[in-house]
Amino acid sequence: MSADHRICDPLDVATIKADFPILARQVHGRRLVYLDSAASSQKPRQVLDAMQDFSVTSYANVHRGVYSIAVEADEGFEAARDAVARFIGAPSSRSVVFTKNVTEAINLVAHSWGRSNLGAGDSILLTEMEHHANIVPWLMLAEEKGFEIRYLPVADDHTLDLTDLDRLIDGVKLVSVTAMSNVLGTLNPIERLAAAAHAAGALILVDAAQWVPHLPTDVVAWDADFVGFTGHKLLGPSGIGVLWAREELLEAMPAFLGGGAMIRDVRLDGWTPNEIPWKFEAGTPPITEAVGLHAAIDYLTGLGMEAVRKHEVALTGYALRTLNERFGDDITIHGPSEPAQRGGVLSLAFRDVHPHDLSQILDQHGVCVRAGHHCAKPLMRRLGVGATARASLYVYNDESDVDALADALEATSTFFG
Ligand code: ALA
Repeated sequence: MSADHRICDPLDVATIKADFPILARQVHGRRLVYLDSAASSQKPRQVLDAMQDFSVTSYANVHRGVYSIAVEADEGFEAARDAVARFIGAPSSRSVVFTKNVTEAINLVAHSWGRSNLGAGDSILLTEMEHHANIVPWLMLAEEKGFEIRYLPVADDHTLDLTDLDRLIDGVKLVSVTAMSNVLGTLNPIERLAAAAHAAGALILVDAAQWVPHLPTDVVAWDADFVGFTGHKLLGPSGIGVLWAREELLEAMPAFLGGGAMIRDVRLDGWTPNEIPWKFEAGTPPITEAVGLHAAIDYLTGLGMEAVRKHEVALTGYALRTLNERFGDDITIHGPSEPAQRGGVLSLAFRDVHPHDLSQILDQHGVCVRAGHHCAKPLMRRLGVGATARASLYVYNDESDVDALADALEATSTFFG
């Protein structure tokens, strides 16, 4: 690392690294360099401890028991909902629905709002850079209901091409868009798209899986209607996600999954739904996971989301400079070239090495990157590639991790002669 490259970091990454026990292990005799947080992030001791403490002191099912530990479990679960609402600027916890992940959050909207509101002659607008989770539920519903799906294209600079926005958005009932591409890192102009959607009489759903963990989020400032994100990408556990929606939408939407907890009454010939948000939470929810998500939100809040974003802009800039300077024409990094326009997701093509081979060779150096289509096959086709190797950055990464990636890339030359 050259002195001119050293970044001014608002986070104390050495201290943060020490909070993550997994980062102390070795792989193939090398320090673990974890660069796959866009797929799933690691958990700090604070999250692991909160889940362990809850499990050994207060675990019970929620919304069912009146004994002491059941009440404590209930309080822990609902406190997590309150923490989520504060974290994303939601006006109330009633609009926070716990799901399994973002995929389930989008499927909930498709099955509930979509099934009641979309039919033949209708249309919705997605983008070419969506994750399969924001394409397939709509394709499935369109097969059943016969509505049209339009797509905003990806421009050559890997931002959304908004040239034809007015024409494409005209008459649609829903715009469903990722806030940040999981492949390109592109940050999309959500406020502008929300204003355009509302002017067209449409609602907007924001897939914020890659945004909420990395940037300050304010669902009211976005003027969004639906927002989905997940715990396991923001230092929390897997198995818990969130659908936030405007309260009046949730009130009007029919239930999605049927079962316990989502009802007020059940007779042999009918049923009445519970109030929101519980109307959408059938069955035993992810209870310990909610406590873990709360601890993860507290951890990130302690760091400060503005500081998290500044750290990632600086580190992404460092990574782009380092990789481009060291490898020149041998490397292609997809996505916008300006760190301020993107998140810390670096999808790479390196020489003519297949991304899966690259990932395996990097693993020999302790470096974890994801290889594949990243659940975004239409985007892969747009980029003209079958797969990429993707390094993604988070709060526990610093220049030494980027340098380890670059050194390991260099070593592939030795491997392939
Ligand atoms: N959606 C996750 C990713 O992009 C799994 O890797």
